[in-house]
Amino acid sequence: MREFIYYSRHAPTTGNFGKDLMKAGRLDIAMHVVIAAFFLSHKLREDTKLHLIFAGQPDPPKHIEIFPVTEGKTDIDKIYLSKKDIAGLIKRMLYKYKPEKKSEVFPGYWIEKKGFLDVVKELKKQGKDIFILDKKGQDIREVEIGEDAVFVLGDHDGIPGKELKRLKKSCTPVSIGKKTYFASHTVAIVHNELDRREEVSRVV
Ligand SMILES: C[S@@+](CC[C@H](N)C(=O)[O-])C[C@H]1O[C@@H](n2cnc3c(N)ncnc32)[C@H](O)[C@@H]1O
Repeated sequence: MREFIYYSRHAPTTGNFGKDLMKAGRLDIAMHVVIAAFFLSHKLREDTKLHLIFAGQPDPPKHIEIFPVTEGKTDIDKIYLSKKDIAGLIKRMLYKYKPEKKSEVFPGYWIEKKGFLDVVKELKKQGKDIFILDKKGQDIREVEIGEDAVFVLGDHDGIPGKELKRLKKSCTPVSIGKKTYFASHTVAIVHNELDRREEVSRVV
């Protein structure tokens, strides 16, 4: 399983946001990250979990966890994840948030009140290797990456300095090159790197 944690300092924490996603704490970036995390051409990835951490107003923080169910009957066992309406899905999830509990709003879609570093800590406790996507990190092509790896990335503002410093004490910073990529491109490039490694190990 691959996991990504996307942190956004200004993404809204209730469903009460307007249609202009760029003005809604740059939700447009989060939507592109969802697409990059799950969509292949004509297929959804079944090996990926995405954590969205929204820390904007009015009720931060929110942890949205997405590991879509892909088997079974639509609207009974699973929901149809449409590229065209990811904002609507996130809106419904934020509206259905219930205090003091992690709720499964749709099959494979959870929401709870939990902050960025607590989510990282929890995955670390489960024995996962955590990598921070950071331009200044070690070249990803030279890094050994196990099966249950987690990659942390930020929005247009990046990961805040204080959090980044704390993460660097226990997580490995990895770089995908010297250019600064969009958050969603970063996810696609990491997927490609891991897909290529899997292809090579299948042949050997
Ligand atoms: C648009 S970038 C953020 C730019 C922001 N000004 C900064 O300096 O962090 C969004 C996220 O993509 C990831 N990213 C972008 N370029 C990268 C690179 N070359 N290597 C690793 N991660 C990268 C980082 O996690 C970053 O927080």
